[in-house]
Amino acid sequence: MAKKSFNRYTVTSALPYANGPVHIGHLAGVYVPADIYVRYLRSKGKDVAFICGSDEHGVAITLKARKEGITPQQVVDKYHEQIKKSFSDFGISFDIYHRTSSKTHHETAADFFKKLYDEGKFVEQSSKQFFDPVEKQFLADRYIKGTCPTCSFPEAYGDQCENCGSTLSPGELINPKSMLSGAEPTMEETKHWYFPLDQYEDWLKEWILEEHKEWKPNVYGQCKSWIDNGLKPRPMTRDLDWGISVPLKDAKGKVLYVWFDAPIGYISATKDWAKETGKNWEDYWKKEDTRLLHFIGKDNIVFHCIIFPALLKAEGSYILPDNVPANEFLNLESNKISTSRNWAVWLHEYLEEFPDKQDTLRYVLTANAPETKDNDFTWKDFQARNNSELLAIFGNFINRAVVLTHKYFDGMVPSLGELTPEDQATIDALKAFPDKISASLDQFKFREAVNHLMDLARLGNKYLADTEPWKLIKTDPERVKTIMNIAIQISGNLAVLSEPFLPHTAQKLYKTIPVNGTKWEDTGSTEIVNSGASLGEQQYLFERIEDEQIEAQVKKLTDTRAKNMETDNQKVTPVKEEMKFDDFMKMDLRVGEVKTAEKVEKSDKLIKMTVDTGIDTRTIVSGIAKHFSPEEMVGKKVTVLANLAPRKIMGIESQGMLLFAENSDGSLKAVNPDAAAENGATIA
Ligand code: MF3
Ligand code: ZN
Repeated sequence: MAKKSFNRYTVTSALPYANGPVHIGHLAGVYVPADIYVRYLRSKGKDVAFICGSDEHGVAITLKARKEGITPQQVVDKYHEQIKKSFSDFGISFDIYHRTSSKTHHETAADFFKKLYDEGKFVEQSSKQFFDPVEKQFLADRYIKGTCPTCSFPEAYGDQCENCGSTLSPGELINPKSMLSGAEPTMEETKHWYFPLDQYEDWLKEWILEEHKEWKPNVYGQCKSWIDNGLKPRPMTRDLDWGISVPLKDAKGKVLYVWFDAPIGYISATKDWAKETGKNWEDYWKKEDTRLLHFIGKDNIVFHCIIFPALLKAEGSYILPDNVPANEFLNLESNKISTSRNWAVWLHEYLEEFPDKQDTLRYVLTANAPETKDNDFTWKDFQARNNSELLAIFGNFINRAVVLTHKYFDGMVPSLGELTPEDQATIDALKAFPDKISASLDQFKFREAVNHLMDLARLGNKYLADTEPWKLIKTDPERVKTIMNIAIQISGNLAVLSEPFLPHTAQKLYKTIPVNGTKWEDTGSTEIVNSGASLGEQQYLFERIEDEQIEAQVKKLTDTRAKNMETDNQKVTPVKEEMKFDDFMKMDLRVGEVKTAEKVEKSDKLIKMTVDTGIDTRTIVSGIAKHFSPEEMVGKKVTVLANLAPRKIMGIESQGMLLFAENSDGSLKAVNPDAAAENGATIA
């Protein structure tokens, strides 16, 4: 297929949930690469709309509101402002930072839904959902708590157990309880509008798997596995009282699913931006010569590569993303970044502790970006990259070029004289840099691109070290003119080429190096600074970061870890309330033997077993599949609680319970009676 040519770019970056501040993981995965790319496009003179905003709907917000005892509106108002400020502090140059609670967005999302509805693109379907009989409300998965079938943690959520990390559905929880009233949820019938993704499977296969083989392997691979596993209809509405009301008569108390409305937020934001700037928003969303790009993290891939494009396709008048350069995750000191465990470097805190060092963080996060696999941020690496790369290579070169020019020529850029082969080689190398950096950026290889940039500074350092103008100044001042001119040309190129990566540094540099132009087309030249022009004052671009500063950061994390361990221990080991001997005697504990075992279909935790209890042979379902295979269970002697009331687990009646020991890390160990104990022997 011939490469399309584009006249305009719409670049979006994932709308962060307005339920907490942003951290280095957000920056590294999404916003820094997106910003580099957009600044690069602008430098190339392209017409770009760089779009973002706060994602203000969904259960993530309502839960946070409950936790803080405030309204969802108060939650989003607070974090929207904070997030917006962090982005602007770090130089993320959105053309607009919008919000999904805006009027434009509510209208745009509702109209989009209505159009699909009117054209019969949804399937209406009723199903039984969890319902709080006291609060008279349907319950989102996150609003149901119960005992985890895998690790028996009593506080697992309906969608996930935070103790052992397993993904759950509320039907798998033992003893489910509504978090609203504490009541046991009932199942009630409710109607929703489903988007039949299955009907778009063939189209998606063609569009992604055939026509977008150039997508990053991590993105393409995830899409392929979703498609290969078969796509199912997905409900686009929810029973919730926070969000955009479903614009239909028979939809009281229902809102649009947050993952339906949020990506449409990109469109709403573009509308308001266009209105403010006198542009036509439709050019950016409906013209074939517009290149639509979504910058996201890997947990957003299915929504941006499969669901949203299928919705756009169904609507019919929009362009589709041309690429979705998603990143993997950034870890922090070998552990997953976690908001609830405070395992993060928050951007607003970073700036308090490292004022004016935005570019250092931007640089480190780019040089070590999780582009192809998860990566680790460590404070040691942060320090090393600042001190031995930014400071020792980039800063040092510029500083020498500027200081020497001030010293020898009063800050006036000398002219170029006759060139030696060494000068010529350096100039040739210099000229190749803009294209090298472009080639990397065009492929979304930001690490590679920033390494090229550093190589240009290395070239400058090597040139000065090899030519030694500080020695020649006594013997051959004419020659030094040429050398310093070339050094200043390299500095001018560095200023312009570094702008996408290190925008604050570039602005500083422009004050010192009087470049003729600040666009990409001005680079690769030895006339980017005129001879005769006067340099501005010398200033330091970077500062050394001392061991004590790094130790303080590491200590902060060590303290967090200690605190987390304390709460974890409190979660796992408290002794239960005292009980009466009679209560204990109510339990009928027996020795049993597992006869058959098989995995429960559609569950990755449950094993269904038949157990010989000596009294009878019965079915028992246990949440142990993550710890034992069915094969290893067969023939095992087990401890059975034989008089537990039968319970239905995923539709199977479990008659009793097997006992296991649980380690503090959530792993299960068998509690095996001695082989000599007979099946049916009582335990007391
Ligand atoms: N709020 C989502 C998240 O943080 C991202 C939404 S991206 C959008 O994972 F496309 F929906 F806007
Ligand atoms: Zn668990």
